Amino acid sequence: MANDTGTEVTGTGERRSSGIDYQTLLDTDTRPVPDVLRLQATQDLPAVQVPIDRYTSQAFHDLEVERLWKRCWQFACREEEIPGPGDHTIYEIAGLQALIVRGSDQTIRAFPNSCLHRGRALKDRPGSSVELRCPFHGWTWNLNGSLKSIPCHWDFPHVSKTDYKLPEFKVGTWGGFVFINMSDDAEPFETYLGDLPNHFDRWPLDKRYVQAHVAKTLHCNWKVAQEGFMEAYHVVATHPQMLAGIGDSNSQYDAWDNFSRAITPNMTPSPHLDYEPTEQEKLQAMFTTSLDSEPPIRVPENMTARQLMAQMARMRLQALVPSVTQLSDAEMNDSFYYTLFPNFHPWGAYNKLNYRFRPNGNDPGSCIMEVIYLAPFRGKAPAPAPVHWLDVDEPWTEAPELGPLCKVFDQDTINLPKVQIGLRSAAHKHVTFSSYQETKIRHFHSLLDRALES
Ligand code: FES
Ligand SMILES: [Fe+2]
Repeated sequence: MANDTGTEVTGTGERRSSGIDYQTLLDTDTRPVPDVLRLQATQDLPAVQVPIDRYTSQAFHDLEVERLWKRCWQFACREEEIPGPGDHTIYEIAGLQALIVRGSDQTIRAFPNSCLHRGRALKDRPGSSVELRCPFHGWTWNLNGSLKSIPCHWDFPHVSKTDYKLPEFKVGTWGGFVFINMSDDAEPFETYLGDLPNHFDRWPLDKRYVQAHVAKTLHCNWKVAQEGFMEAYHVVATHPQMLAGIGDSNSQYDAWDNFSRAITPNMTPSPHLDYEPTEQEKLQAMFTTSLDSEPPIRVPENMTARQLMAQMARMRLQALVPSVTQLSDAEMNDSFYYTLFPNFHPWGAYNKLNYRFRPNGNDPGSCIMEVIYLAPFRGKAPAPAPVHWLDVDEPWTEAPELGPLCKVFDQDTINLPKVQIGLRSAAHKHVTFSSYQETKIRHFHSLLDRALES
């Protein structure tokens, strides 16, 4: 594909920002750095430009429903939302509902949320029950989907128990997350995940609980929203207060089969600055961003801000994660933001963040963004936090359970509906991505193209 200047751009390119590159920064670590952070994976990604109508058109949304959402593996819920037999929850994507049920045998199954009599949704909300009984006429299934009873069965001689088992979607679990796939032709779940579980070996997400779960409606396409969280290129304009303590354009971007990764180093200055900040200024930038207060400490003479923040993070986590003493400064400081196609964004190391982005019903101009904090715990896992819904006009600061980061989310999401306005108003036909810093977005669109083709 040619870019605006007519130059052929097919790969992630060789050019990188001035400033310290991430692999060189890792060489300064006070601890051994895990192999996974030493991986570098660039790919030839042709999607330098994509048509604007994939963010705005109903026809494109409808194609996504048929060829993406009805066929892809997707994160549906956390295992701890349905801990015991009979516990169930509802996952919704583009108006389609799946009923996710834990059986008496502890197996998690997913069924279309649809009665085989005249189609009523079998369940209206999450809950617990010993059987799946349709509220309309009372047809009832066992938790494993086998038909249990029909009122006046004599009137349905054509309905046999074997033929009226609930259809099942495929289910896979990883890291405490339950994934479903609605297609009979789904690729094996393990193949879909690929090497991703190995990346999280040192940071097991199943040993965490849902500390906070906030969902917010946004007036933009789901891809507009998630792409705002797949690069650090926006930091210079959107979060300029961070620049003394974030190596925004020194981030590393990698892409594998179905997942990609960005690593943004912290407590290292942005190459955009025309001065060299002091160690205290690097620390200050972080506190200005997230805690809105003066840092409680000064960086000692013999330490860098990066070493100090790593040490403080280890001390904070030590009671819950004894192995934290071995984790590198990088793991304690940096942002590792993964994307598992199409819409799930777990963060690496001990950052609590996970995002999911979904269309809001069948409106291509509206989506649901969720922030899920997964925190380590000791002893028995606390109950998962219920979903806190924020209306379209409510800022993230209305969700104090997200802590100081909600101010950053407000900075991030303020642009997104305005992107949608701009896309609707555009006379030009394409959005244009960078060679390297928008690697994750280009990787996503390459996978989306592949999904929609077949
Ligand atoms: S629609 Fe479910 S029992 Fe009739
Ligand atoms: Fe941001």
